[in-house]
Amino acid sequence: RGGAPSSPAPSSHILRRSFSVESGPERKVAILGAAGGIGQPLSLLMKLNPLVSRLALYDIAGTPGVAADVSHINTRAEVKGYAAEEQLGQALEGSDLVIIPAGVPRKPGMTRDDLFNINAGIVKSLCTAIAKYCPDALVNMISNPVNSTVPIAAEVFKKAGTYDEKKLFGVTMLDVVRAKTFYAGKANVPVSEVNVPVVGGHAGITILPLFSQATPATNALSEDDIKALTKRTQDGGTEVVEAKAGKGSATLSMAYAGAIFADACLKGLNGVPDIVECSFVQSSITELPFFASKVRLGKNGVEEVLGLGTLSEYEKQGLENLKAELKASIEKGIKFAKDN
Ligand code: NAI
Repeated sequence: RGGAPSSPAPSSHILRRSFSVESGPERKVAILGAAGGIGQPLSLLMKLNPLVSRLALYDIAGTPGVAADVSHINTRAEVKGYAAEEQLGQALEGSDLVIIPAGVPRKPGMTRDDLFNINAGIVKSLCTAIAKYCPDALVNMISNPVNSTVPIAAEVFKKAGTYDEKKLFGVTMLDVVRAKTFYAGKANVPVSEVNVPVVGGHAGITILPLFSQATPATNALSEDDIKALTKRTQDGGTEVVEAKAGKGSATLSMAYAGAIFADACLKGLNGVPDIVECSFVQSSITELPFFASKVRLGKNGVEEVLGLGTLSEYEKQGLENLKAELKASIEKGIKFAKDN
């Protein structure tokens, strides 16, 4: 890391590093949908994470190649590929964290809800297996529509008697990543220092970035700038879908966002204090049963769902405007899980 990679580090250095990093607790991470557009770069990034000791890569197609490839990287995690449904149990057993990017992505002209019919069934069957083989694992749901797949997962776990609301997360980190990037560009501040909470859900107007709380604060942005930034964050996924012109949706930036969020979950599990990220979780901060907001992560998953803070008038309006759609998506997921 850094320095001159061709000259070997002094052995004391290596020992120190392996002591501080590689003697961390054993942590098994499973990725379901590991050979897909998101799954592959996410597998790579999780292989690079020193907090991971075992990495289980599961997909119904293409797993052996991805697993063999990633397994050659000389980092801590021991990689195993699981290629067929009969192997799903083994992939999941002993997992501390399961990340789910399985399912179909959008094509131009599609909304995330158009994916419901296919992805709802996939998520339901994967969550049924999680309830059976690793009921205590944290679950990071990436598969869309997140506004519905998270409620589906909750219902499946409730039916199985394993539901723990502290352990189920809809991954909305890509909205945060986009909001940070777009804000930094517009406000002309260093992107690495930027923080922007994004609340609500993960589709269209349900994505509500709170630029009034962005740091570093700036007064360089007009109301129109904030509106344009909000719209670009909400439409960020569609921007990528259109640019890829039928070849899928965000995969590389999503893998990055998924890896950052998974890392935060692992740090929380390991007892690192003050890990706060936005996620779509069971929530009582609004009247909706699931809602994305800042969440403090801890040894059992969600330690605290943080409130919304002070909103601007524009954000208050955005919050009211998103509730009907988000409520309908949540109810659609719950109904699917109950009927199927
Ligand atoms: P992709 O089609 O490239 O990959 C999906 C993978 O899932 C494929 O390898 C496929 O074989 C696998 N799969 C399908 N059924 C499976 C099952 N039953 N068990 C295990 N694996 C299964 O799609 P991509 O681009 O990787 O997107 C995956 C999902 O992530 C989509 O639903 C997409 O909408 C969503 N997404 C979510 C984002 C977010 O911010 N939460 C951002 C971007 C995409």
